[in-house]
Amino acid sequence: MAAYLMHNQASRKGEGQGGGSWEMAISALGYVCIRASDLKAWERFGVEVLGLQAVVSDGSLLLRVDNRAWRFRVDLGDEDDVVGVGWECASEADYLATLAHLGDSATVDPVLAAARGVRALARFTDPAGMACELHWGPTDAPHQPFTSSAGVNGFVTGEQGLGHVVIVTQDPAGFEAFYKGLGFSVSDYIDMRMGPDFVLPITFMHCNPRHHTLAFAPAPAVFTKKCIHLMLQTRDLDDVGFAIDRAEKAGTPISMTLGRHSNDEMLSVYFDTPSNFEFEYGWGARVIEPGWQVERRDAISKWGHKMVGGPVNRG
Ligand SMILES: [Fe+2]
Repeated sequence: MAAYLMHNQASRKGEGQGGGSWEMAISALGYVCIRASDLKAWERFGVEVLGLQAVVSDGSLLLRVDNRAWRFRVDLGDEDDVVGVGWECASEADYLATLAHLGDSATVDPVLAAARGVRALARFTDPAGMACELHWGPTDAPHQPFTSSAGVNGFVTGEQGLGHVVIVTQDPAGFEAFYKGLGFSVSDYIDMRMGPDFVLPITFMHCNPRHHTLAFAPAPAVFTKKCIHLMLQTRDLDDVGFAIDRAEKAGTPISMTLGRHSNDEMLSVYFDTPSNFEFEYGWGARVIEPGWQVERRDAISKWGHKMVGGPVNRG
């Protein structure tokens, strides 16, 4: 982590990104809130396919990924989409500095902080219209160790945070500038050819050693959700294979076949969630290292990742 921080401090100072300083930073994706029309289906998907641990609390479905009290919260609602991205700061000082940067656009919400089990929280909406929850001091529950009834041997979290989220925005340049102001740096760009006449430009950004915690693209109208996909990374390669078997058994559609991404080099498969956006389940991604060079590519994958039945996120 020290090498990463040194690199990140140097690169931010060197690039003068967003007019911010390295102290003022989001450090990780802390949690994700979803509203879904079928909580039972999400519980089955979360537990039986993803191998997460379910906790039902006051009618909400909480899904655990590690020793944090929860990482995904699913509430009943018609949106069938991600409705809250929890951006975590590593310290109160980072939280306060980021809050100051957001200024009047953020609203401190002690009631929501208590509900989320964090020390402090402020709500803001990003330029794509995604509801975001800046926070610090999440609840760790090592006295209730994470257990997977599906037998998954854990996920890569810790300093890399929960995973990544991919969001639709029609203003990628503005979106990139906004998140640079919150401490993110560009990892790379991919111009994804989706047809003979259509190329989708995707931007990937990091805020810790994970290759990308946030990605975004001006997705066409066929993508009707704010969230294109979420991602979890397993510790063991076999857990991706076991999840494919569990998905087939549970009748969960695979939306993109097993493949190796061209930029983070993650070996992954994509499932169709009960809310009809995608969930990437992968292993073996490379991390951001000192001397990182931003590159562009023309394809999202070295091999595989064949779309099954067209884009999933189609309303
Ligand atoms: Fe992804």
